[in-house]
Amino acid sequence: MRIDIATLFPEMCERVLSESIIGRARQRGYIELACHQIRDYTTNRQKQVDDYPYGGGPGMVMQAQPIYDCCVDVVRQVEEAGHARPHVVFMTAAGTPLTEEKCKQLAQKDSLLLVCGHYEGIDERVIEALADEEISIGDYVLTGGELAALVVADSVCRLCPGVLSSPEGYEEESHYSGLLEYPQYSRPEEWNGRRVPEILLSGHHANIAKWRHEQALERTRTRRPDLYEKYEEKSMAKIDK
Ligand code: ADE
Repeated sequence: MRIDIATLFPEMCERVLSESIIGRARQRGYIELACHQIRDYTTNRQKQVDDYPYGGGPGMVMQAQPIYDCCVDVVRQVEEAGHARPHVVFMTAAGTPLTEEKCKQLAQKDSLLLVCGHYEGIDERVIEALADEEISIGDYVLTGGELAALVVADSVCRLCPGVLSSPEGYEEESHYSGLLEYPQYSRPEEWNGRRVPEILLSGHHANIAKWRHEQALERTRTRRPDLYEKYEEKSMAKIDK
């Protein structure tokens, strides 16, 4: 998997993606990530990347030209490096909400180009010209697409082979199966008067798996009835088959 990020803040993205699990996976060659400065592609002397919105209104809009030229150059670099043409995703609050299912789809691609807006928005014409899709990370507005792109990069990369130390890692996690994750405990057996549930100390793997599944079901039912309903529908459909 190769992920390129086009942004006005490449250092910020680079910094985050150099740490911890993702940083290690890059060093070991399991994933490739590169961040690109959109401002380097401006054609005006002031290196301006934004302008007033036609029709008036608050704030500034990112202009089409620097984003377009940056993306065309990144696509060329990616293809020259032997990858498929990247799947181009614009990070916008108006995009399709990100889900684990979407992350799984994106993780199947050979390469992704994530484009980050800033200011009040991006000139719609460059989105029309380049975007395969627009993704939002939630129903709230960020000051820019960078944090959203980092969320996508992180959640997609952890699904790529080699990135997590144990391949079961992500299958057990919240959302992968459509359920929230069961509660986890580590040493000591008692902390501040709170004991680890007895069943986890029993060594009985089948009972532990059953308990965890029940916990996951109950948590999902009470905390996220929307997910629970979907899970139930899927389970019923499987039984019907
Ligand atoms: N840019 C601003 N807000 C955003 C959001 N919620 N998701 C993705 N990109 C954004």
